[in-house]
Amino acid sequence: MTFQVTNQKTGNSFSAEETETVLDAAMRQSRVFSYSCRSGACGSCKARLISGEVNPGEYTTGVLSKSEKAAGNILLCQAQALSDIVIEANELPPGTAMTIRTLPCRVVSLEKVSHDVMLLQLKLPKNQRFEYLPGQYIDILLRDGRRRSFSMANAPNSEEGLQLHVRLVPDGHFTGQVFTTLKVRDLLRFQGPLGTFFLREDETWPVIMVGGGTGLAPLKAILDNALVKHPARAFHLFWGVRSAEDLYLDNEIRRWLDVHPNLSYTPVLSEPKIADRWDGEIGLVHEAVLRKYPELDGFEVYASGPPPMIEALKAAFAAHGLPPERLFFDSFEFTADSC
Ligand SMILES: Cc1cc2nc3c(=O)[nH]c(=O)nc-3n(C[C@H](O)[C@H](O)[C@H](O)COP(=O)(O)OP(=O)(O)OC[C@H]3O[C@@H](n4cnc5c(N)ncnc54)[C@H](O)[C@@H]3O)c2cc1C
Ligand code: FES
Repeated sequence: MTFQVTNQKTGNSFSAEETETVLDAAMRQSRVFSYSCRSGACGSCKARLISGEVNPGEYTTGVLSKSEKAAGNILLCQAQALSDIVIEANELPPGTAMTIRTLPCRVVSLEKVSHDVMLLQLKLPKNQRFEYLPGQYIDILLRDGRRRSFSMANAPNSEEGLQLHVRLVPDGHFTGQVFTTLKVRDLLRFQGPLGTFFLREDETWPVIMVGGGTGLAPLKAILDNALVKHPARAFHLFWGVRSAEDLYLDNEIRRWLDVHPNLSYTPVLSEPKIADRWDGEIGLVHEAVLRKYPELDGFEVYASGPPPMIEALKAAFAAHGLPPERLFFDSFEFTADSC
């Protein structure tokens, strides 16, 4: 059966089949709601059900608190309409997101830049253009039907193709292959671009960026573009890793500082080694942000990386005055098939 979904916030409506999630229905009709993991784990697609009935679907415990559930909150990436429904949801202007496509690509290079990070460069077929907004991600489609999400680490550039920063996950099915059997010239397939983690270019708020490990990748893509397009806007990048050997792009970021006066950079080590002789910030990356900026009401924040970092930061930054509508995040949740 087909039902009508109306967003009370914008007055926009679209149709949804009872067999698809509200988010899939919206994307099929080029409507753009905030989302990231699409697996019910990150909470980015939270919306309020005002009227009508849905099957809420399955999601990770804790993504919706008791009070949020009581207030009628649902996850658009999981909920399926069982009647016409009215929701209240964050919606981006039509045309904001790019068309999602499935494309082949070839491995051009594999560069191991730290003990557990591979820089993977992919080239698209000559006649294909792949448009995306810096900060978005792709799903690599594996032969057995599974998919794995990775953020583009560069702004769109047909010469460079796509750059990914792949962290080796212990016993990881795909990332294990990237570090062992994947070779230059191998073919992969991917779907994208996905996600709504991109710079809100119409805003002028100074930006705080918080990356954990390879969470640097989408932030680097955003900066690649924004430092050129919006040179007057202030960006402060905080990059949290374990020890100095994990700062795999430190030199490149420091080179940007020489040419972009509105860019600041603070690397933060959670477990520096004695040999690091580290006299910089130590501890959790979001705590380093709060030491520098205890009042966050005058900022926009973009955060990406491990789910515990995102969860800690959401609560702490709200307590320090960051309005929820100015926090954008990509939580590097792992795919449900691996749980
Ligand atoms: C929107 C989005 C963007 C992402 N972008 C990036 C990126 O740019 N770079 C990057 O390195 N990663 C990124 N990730 C995370 C990445 O998708 C996973 O690490 C990857 O899917 C792991 O695949 P695998 O087959 O190697 O591991 P699996 O075989 O799926 O997992 C093996 C084991 O490790 C656990 N596991 C899997 N992934 C993780 C993880 N990330 N952290 C801790 N434990 C894990 C599983 O539960 C399982 O027990 C992103 C995730 C999302 C949702
Ligand atoms: S919970 Fe829906 S996009 Fe992550």
